[in-house]
Amino acid sequence: MKKKLVSALVCAAMVATMAVGCGGGGDTQADAPAADAGTETPADDAAAPEEDATGDEAAAPAAGGDVITIGFAQVGHESDWRTASTKSCQDVFSAENGYDLQFVDCDNDSAVQLEAVRGFIEQDVDYIIIDPIVSTGWDTVLTECEDAGIPVIVIDRTIDDSDKYVSWVGSNFKTEGLAAGEWLKAYAAAKGISELNVLVIEGSTGASATIGRTEGFKEIADREGWTILDSQSGDFTQDGGAEVMESYCKSYEGQFNVVICQNDNEAFGAMDAMTAAGVSYGVDGDVILVSFDACTAGLEFVKSGDINADFECNPLAAPFVEEVIKTLASGGTPEKEVYMAEHWFVNEDILSSIEVNGETQELTVVTDDIIAAQY
Ligand code: AHR
Repeated sequence: MKKKLVSALVCAAMVATMAVGCGGGGDTQADAPAADAGTETPADDAAAPEEDATGDEAAAPAAGGDVITIGFAQVGHESDWRTASTKSCQDVFSAENGYDLQFVDCDNDSAVQLEAVRGFIEQDVDYIIIDPIVSTGWDTVLTECEDAGIPVIVIDRTIDDSDKYVSWVGSNFKTEGLAAGEWLKAYAAAKGISELNVLVIEGSTGASATIGRTEGFKEIADREGWTILDSQSGDFTQDGGAEVMESYCKSYEGQFNVVICQNDNEAFGAMDAMTAAGVSYGVDGDVILVSFDACTAGLEFVKSGDINADFECNPLAAPFVEEVIKTLASGGTPEKEVYMAEHWFVNEDILSSIEVNGETQELTVVTDDIIAAQY
């Protein structure tokens, strides 16, 4: 697929705003359930691999045409979630499936990410995928992509100061935060806990995942009159979670009974810090521990009761991105927004559902089968 052929389609797509959406807000979810999204992809039907002179697999055309070159500017490698997201893209956009994937790990550095996108323009790739480290500062470089006729597909986090991309595939982070708040409200009521004193470990500053989860949870906390004692960034890493929690344990000793970690890796670090400080957590502990992502290791801690509830963020966007590319290649207009299907996981069987944005949403008790199917 050559750029000039798609550029007119891109312009049309950029003005279309169609939410397929999920997770509250009146939207519907992307079709494939989380557990299946990375396994049964449309890419499975792509052309068979070819071998080059060395016997290695060479890139085969995905749809009977040229090899499709894709530049992917990934956030970094900060979490289990990120590893699953990268693997999803590498699996779908493989040489075997007819793609040449140019992958840049931007190591959570926005300047590196902008440079990576400009490098893809220089390389004259067919498509650019961006998972934006931060949600602002994008219009200039997206204009450069547009001028070069290269369609941009945004995944996971949102770009909030430009609409010069074809499509976004990701999560409703505010709904995730609202769900965590609504679950906490219902759980505390079921357990007879009347006073909630909350410590939040936020994700990376400026990331839409952080902004949305913070906003959603705070909306419920304010409505219910809970005390948020503190809210600091753990940068979505295990070390960051441990460092913030260590300092919280000193500053707020004996004052908190809820810890909200905005991803699983922060929760792992927070657990280490609470254990070291002699603070008990989880279903049998003094502190209710809530996490986001629901990656395999996170769900293992939900099953063991160390994490009370884990709100999924589905990283398997690549099959849906491939659908966007196929739609463009065949002259269609892709949806502007595609929301990933997500589930809310708990340890105890005391609540079956919660109300989020006026919608009943199911709570799933974690089992070994669920863990085995997760990423
Ligand atoms: O943008 C998604 C978030 O980024 C995930 O929750 C987190 O684990 C990752 O680092």
